[in-house]
Amino acid sequence: MIQIACVHNLNIFQVVECNELINLCFNTNRFEDYKTIIIFVENYKIIGFVGICESFLNQLCIHPSHRNKGIATKLLKMSYNIIKKPLKLYVDKKKETTDYLVSFYKKNGYYIEYENNKEYLMYIN
Ligand SMILES: CC(C)(COP(=O)(O)OP(=O)(O)OC[C@H]1O[C@@H](n2cnc3c(N)ncnc32)[C@H](O)[C@@H]1OP(=O)(O)O)[C@@H](O)C(=O)NCCC(=O)NCCS
Repeated sequence: MIQIACVHNLNIFQVVECNELINLCFNTNRFEDYKTIIIFVENYKIIGFVGICESFLNQLCIHPSHRNKGIATKLLKMSYNIIKKPLKLYVDKKKETTDYLVSFYKKNGYYIEYENNKEYLMYIN
């Protein structure tokens, strides 16, 4: 089930679960930057997360044992439906999975706006 939440309405258990998921998937955690988040909950556990800051999507992540089931695709669609304006995101060029991520976002309708030696900026209108 997809849930859209304001961070300040989350209970302590949800905050902890979001942070555990982010920490499992990324080296950095920017949870405190997000006002709105979209989460995917299954069996009362948060297994998918994306943070929204202005028109940027951040730290989209799915628990490793729940990947390749279309959950991230659903979170991207929901983000687009609720924000209703161009969305942007960065893809780090130093990841092992950078090429996969760029093609994953392209499959979901995103284009590369620009790139430098560190990252790609991608957008959807
Ligand atoms: C990138 C990430 C969010 C993708 O999550 P996901 O839920 O596995 O993504 P999806 O399942 O929606 O799509 C992934 C693949 O599954 C396929 N898929 C979509 N729906 C599917 C379904 N119902 N059944 C099986 N496969 C499906 C997609 O076509 C896609 O195929 P591809 O591998 O050829 O691109 C996930 O790998 C992740 O958390 N990575 C670590 C964090 C990270 O790097 N985030 C990106 C920051 S920019």
